[in-house]
Amino acid sequence: MKLQVVILAAGQGTRMKSKLPKVLHPLAGKPFLEYVVDNALALNAHNTHVVVGHGAEVVKKHLDHYSVDWVEQTEQLGTGHAVAQALPAIEDDSVVLVLYGDVPLTSKETLEELLGQVSANSLALLTVNLSNPTGYGRIVRDERGCVQAIVEEKDASDEQRKISEGNTGILAVSGAKLKEWLPKLSSDNAQGEYYLTDTIAMAAADGMEVVAVSAKTEEEVQGINSRQQQAALERWFQLQQANALMVAGATLADPARVDIRGKVSTGQDVFIDVNAVFEGDVLLGNDVKIGPNVQIINSSIGDGVTIHANSVIENAEISADCQIGPYARLRPGTRLAENAKIGNFVEIKQADIGPGSKVNHLSYVGDAKLGRDVNIGAGTITCNYDGANKHLTDIGDGVFIGSNSALVAPIKVEAGATVGAGSTLSADVEAEALVVARSKARVIRDWKRPVKKPK
Ligand code: UD1
Ligand code: CA
Repeated sequence: MKLQVVILAAGQGTRMKSKLPKVLHPLAGKPFLEYVVDNALALNAHNTHVVVGHGAEVVKKHLDHYSVDWVEQTEQLGTGHAVAQALPAIEDDSVVLVLYGDVPLTSKETLEELLGQVSANSLALLTVNLSNPTGYGRIVRDERGCVQAIVEEKDASDEQRKISEGNTGILAVSGAKLKEWLPKLSSDNAQGEYYLTDTIAMAAADGMEVVAVSAKTEEEVQGINSRQQQAALERWFQLQQANALMVAGATLADPARVDIRGKVSTGQDVFIDVNAVFEGDVLLGNDVKIGPNVQIINSSIGDGVTIHANSVIENAEISADCQIGPYARLRPGTRLAENAKIGNFVEIKQADIGPGSKVNHLSYVGDAKLGRDVNIGAGTITCNYDGANKHLTDIGDGVFIGSNSALVAPIKVEAGATVGAGSTLSADVEAEALVVARSKARVIRDWKRPVKKPK
């Protein structure tokens, strides 16, 4: 049977108190809704129907890189009504899996287990045992333990509210059955809504088996309605990721103080100090050491590299045994060959730094190519931008650039050349030469300093 996934994402998310539609708020840097759509893709859904209403245009725009079927629900009349909007595009003989745009962390394994329980004569329902079921629909079972109905909290009796088995909202059933049941829903209940949950009693009345599958954790079925719930789920998720790094052999100074917004893979004996933030795809080789307050975005860090405190690295490739920081900023297009050293208050952009080369203090190196064993003195600037275009600074092997030099690009400093401190250069320098481009000092002997006039 074909799998059709229906994702409900039309609600406003009033409690977020945000301009942004709730399902676009991030967990670990990625919108809630993307987790859910990614799950549908991972399950090889024949089609994914996303029901949108509040902020529909914004939601569609944010997810325009996905190929999904957008379904508009102009009025939010309830979860049953929302699913009904997607039905015209769904064949009778397909399995429909209902997911929620604000429930990001359901595991693929749990959903596969659920789908394993659906047939023409059975409905599969994902439930969860809760220490505090407040707010959830409750699973009502008969004396033999068969699921009979779901009763919403607001419609439940005191006795029913004591039930600790809650409805996650996630269920799977045949398209034919939904087409039969949904038109029969009534909104005669405490919230005046067409409840999807009322289909459970219809299934029981039809003599269908309702198979309850239990979620592995509360968090995997946790819906996010408020900023507090978002933060709580974020912390839980980050701790899972931190644990995975430790299982893979990394040492974390504090597993509660590392954030991964993407994917990090680590070699052996990596050490990560407190408050590291990783974004996108980050690769850390063997024996990498990361100091406190470091941010690394979409970069690969070679074996034996040390990154000192407060450094920011984005879209960079760092080879083995480099030293970076403290307070270094490596911007996109930075490539460090092995053993390079980038020190404090140095900014590198779109530059190849050769093996063993050093830029140790207070420099800007942008749009540049450095050979091996180059030494760039403190305060050196590559003047790469003429106000309209960027130009290359090309520095050969073994070049020594004295402190506080300005290299006006395009410029080439050939191998072995030495540039005297304080030089401003706008023409190429030949190999092995010394060039000094600074005004000569004037010495005025017996100079009398001005003295203060008496008042
Ligand atoms: C729903 C379930 C409840 C379950 C709980 C789990 C129903 C009637 N109740 O309650 O049993 O315990 O989820 O979190 O299904 N939505 C639409 N269109 C609508 C209404 C809702 O797209 O017309 C979307 C919302 O954006 C939200 C989701 O469906 O993402 C759930 O709706 P909500 O109103 O929050 O249901 P709950 O009251 O939480
Ligand atoms: Ca909800």
